[in-house]
Amino acid sequence: MLRNTPETYGLVAIALHWLVALVVVGLFGLGLWMTGLDYYDPRYRQAPDLHKSIGVLVCGLMVLRLGWRLVNPRPAPEPTLTPFERTASRLAHALLYGLLFAVMAAGYLISTADGRPLEVFGLFEIPATLVGLPDQADLAGDIHLALAIAVVCLAGVHALGALKHHFIDRDKTLLRMLGRGRETPKT
Ligand code: HEM
Repeated sequence: MLRNTPETYGLVAIALHWLVALVVVGLFGLGLWMTGLDYYDPRYRQAPDLHKSIGVLVCGLMVLRLGWRLVNPRPAPEPTLTPFERTASRLAHALLYGLLFAVMAAGYLISTADGRPLEVFGLFEIPATLVGLPDQADLAGDIHLALAIAVVCLAGVHALGALKHHFIDRDKTLLRMLGRGRETPKT
């Protein structure tokens, strides 16, 4: 139930997948919105604090997810997948993991560029480590945005792939990420 089986995803992988997906899309929207806020807007400081704190939370979830994935292998691909689709999906998943960690690392470098620690929900702080690189905040900011756009675009293609499997190939690829992998797909 909690663990993946050779046929389907378990509850832990499913919960982590959808939680991270939801929060990543939310953080992307919040990030774009907050950069347009006026300096005198009361949310000018609150929104970035929230964005950073939630970003650290996602980082924790991603570490958990990676750890879970390492001790709990994913189910075998559905037999309907072509060799190209198998390779492409493996590559896309690895890229999504890599890009998400890279976005978070760049976000950390923006927040701590001036040597101040990153405060998480006012509960604890993550100290600055790498500071004083030339134009650190601006450069890390450009990289953070570019990588975040790449994550959202790749996640969009990935979601389209899942929908194609569900509606065109009519296999269990999407169903098993929705906790319904044991049901017989529509014919
Ligand atoms: C920001 C959004 C998303 C991210 C970062 C993401 C990331 C991932 C990753 C890394 C995996 C590999 C399995 C794992 O490690 O848990 C995965 C699997 C999967 N995702 Fe997503 N995902 C996102 C959104 C979506 C959406 C919107 C859909 C559906 C419309 C979707 C459908 C699936 C399915 C069906 C699988 C299982 C694929 C398989 O078994 O080969 N994902 N996703």
